[in-house]
Amino acid sequence: MKFETIAIHAGERPDMTFGAISVPIYQTSTFTFEDVGKTRGYDYSRTANPTRKVLEDTIARLEGGKAGFAFATGMAAEATVIHLLKAGDHVISGDDVYGGTYRLFENVMRDFGLEFTFLRMDSRQAIEEVIRPNTKMLWLETPSNPLLNIVDIEMVVDIAKRHNILTVMDNTFATPYLLRPIEYGVDLVVHSTTKYLNGHCDVVGGAVVTTTDELTERVQFLLNAMGTCASPFDCWLVLRGIETLPVRMERHQENAFAVANYLKGHPAVKRVFYPGLDSHPGHEIVKKQMKGFGGMVSFELKGGAGAVNSFLRRVNVVSLAESLGGVASLVEHPATMSHASMPKEYQEKVGITDELIRLSVGLENIDDLIDDLRQALEPD
Ligand SMILES: Cc1ncc(COP(=O)(O)O)c(C=O)c1O
Repeated sequence: MKFETIAIHAGERPDMTFGAISVPIYQTSTFTFEDVGKTRGYDYSRTANPTRKVLEDTIARLEGGKAGFAFATGMAAEATVIHLLKAGDHVISGDDVYGGTYRLFENVMRDFGLEFTFLRMDSRQAIEEVIRPNTKMLWLETPSNPLLNIVDIEMVVDIAKRHNILTVMDNTFATPYLLRPIEYGVDLVVHSTTKYLNGHCDVVGGAVVTTTDELTERVQFLLNAMGTCASPFDCWLVLRGIETLPVRMERHQENAFAVANYLKGHPAVKRVFYPGLDSHPGHEIVKKQMKGFGGMVSFELKGGAGAVNSFLRRVNVVSLAESLGGVASLVEHPATMSHASMPKEYQEKVGITDELIRLSVGLENIDDLIDDLRQALEPD
């Protein structure tokens, strides 16, 4: 089956009991036993749930992995994956990852004895130089949040394999429709399903996809032990969203491409970050690595905080809000919103300036979007 078909039919669908075409929401905490010591396949919803299972199977197939797991949030998925490690282990992470990922690593896991090095993953030499004997994990995000930097996954995986290091890729921005990291040898994929996979800004959720039996067993163990799983209703919402992922992604990127080109030519705009532009340093890699350029556009305005605040206050069709990947366009200010958990000096070091704005381009009519951006950029 092709991607679009898997998105609609993977997992146990239609359901075995009554043939419902929409996956039933098994809103139950527990399941009766058939006999002493004999379940009907499920015993308790923290461990496993039939609605969740359909979502997990669907995501696993879309990513081309061994098994999928659905979590309460993207951060719950990440927290679970980082527990594959133990005190004393070292992680090399991209330096401009999502602010919450940075916070989990730097402000939570460091206290439990994990070591972290944050690095721009754009050179083989730079990565190899920071590998230590205790390096156990390489954490990638491409396109990165919020700067849309591109990592050459093949290069990073090659380094990781030579040094026996586990690779984890946050595939939230690209989604498996545009990028399938497992095909490049990545060991684990994580998602904030809150974003494109759900696509409607009505749920928070996360996912992990594994590639080996050992990782599958370990992630299932941790999910159950840590209780980080998603609720049945939230799984159903994400499943419903995934059914339209391919068509949504096509339109997201069509609109984003038009928006990036519009912004690029506007005199109030200092710089545009969009992997689809020839001028983007990762453009050539993205052309060979992804099936498209995605729906996120970041840009810097001229005119400092005044110009940024005026723009953010004036947008009308586009809403000022955290998050991304929904049908409605959202705009945010990474320095004070999504990436506020990074200290100022760190933001500056990685390139998250006060002038930076991140736009999640939605599915509205492109003319309305551009008109809205124009009136926000050109106050009378
Ligand atoms: C790339 C990326 N990864 C992970 C997360 C965390 O996901 P959640 O908000 O669902 O916990 C986010 C949230 O913005 C994100 O953008």
